[in-house]
Amino acid sequence: MVRKNTLRVGFIGFGEVASTLSDGLLARGVEVLTCLEGRSQRSIELAKSSGVDLFDSLTELVESSDILLSTVVPAEAVSVAKKVGASFEGVYVDLNNISPGTVKEAFSHIPNGKTVDGAIMGGIKNGLGTPIIASGEFAENFAELLNQYGMNIEIIGPEPGQASGLKMLRSAYTKGVSALLFEAFYAAYQMGVDETLLRYLTMSEGSHFPASANSRLTSSTYHSQRRAQEMDEVVKFLTEYEDPLITRATCEFFHSLPDKTGTIEKKPADYRDVFRKVDKKRVKVRKIQ
Ligand SMILES: NC(=O)c1ccc[n+]([C@@H]2O[C@H](COP(=O)([O-])OP(=O)(O)OC[C@H]3O[C@@H](n4cnc5c(N)ncnc54)[C@H](OP(=O)(O)O)[C@@H]3O)[C@@H](O)[C@H]2O)c1
Repeated sequence: MVRKNTLRVGFIGFGEVASTLSDGLLARGVEVLTCLEGRSQRSIELAKSSGVDLFDSLTELVESSDILLSTVVPAEAVSVAKKVGASFEGVYVDLNNISPGTVKEAFSHIPNGKTVDGAIMGGIKNGLGTPIIASGEFAENFAELLNQYGMNIEIIGPEPGQASGLKMLRSAYTKGVSALLFEAFYAAYQMGVDETLLRYLTMSEGSHFPASANSRLTSSTYHSQRRAQEMDEVVKFLTEYEDPLITRATCEFFHSLPDKTGTIEKKPADYRDVFRKVDKKRVKVRKIQ
């Protein structure tokens, strides 16, 4: 293939993050690439419909990219870095929700790359403008290359691990709140008082509460497997500093959720749709005499 003189951004993994960022980058004239090797039908369809350049193998993708963004799932971040290996000398950014220890392990497999610890701070649905933080020696290369095309990358420090660590702390809070909401509202729904609970919490939490609670409840269920993997990383990180009781419980909650709700193919619009799917036989209830 003849190389053109434009920036070539390669995505490893092509799910929600890669397809959203690709849309914005393609619209600004950036060449976007990915590979289909080993991918599911969902990712293949997303990649084909987005209009990015497609390669059959990761090796070709690595050879053809100036900058590689790893947007897989937390549990695969190290294994894909291993496959990228020592031959890559461009900018390699890990955007997965993984702990600083896992980031460093991943980077140990790319000794010649300009590795950058990156973290997406919020849902990617806001597109190219979604805040991303970055740290490490080469964070500036990442920001310089992509902020000119509308990305919103803030450099937060010189060490790898600073960006992912901050993201872990944010996740401990947001996912902990989501798990707590689920438990409180599932009981309220069964009692038939969920709307009243919503109304009273809105008085203390503010007018945004009904929409944000609904969004947390529905997306927690839809993304429960990914959240569980992310929480594994959060627990691993916090354990270096304390004995994280609530975070461990949150992690367990997300691991157990798919068992209670079954597979959810499409994101539900309303939290009541989620609760209707809960298999009561799979919820352990302790009767008080
Ligand atoms: N979505 C968000 O708003 C958001 C926000 C912050 C951070 N993140 C992080 O960003 C990363 C991507 O999230 P996402 O929402 O895009 O996830 P997603 O929609 O589940 O997509 C993950 C992609 O990675 C691919 N993949 C899985 N294992 C792979 C492997 N070994 N090699 C290559 N590709 C592999 C999947 O392919 P298959 O379809 O074949 O499985 C899929 O294309 C995650 O680590 C997540 O923690 C996401």
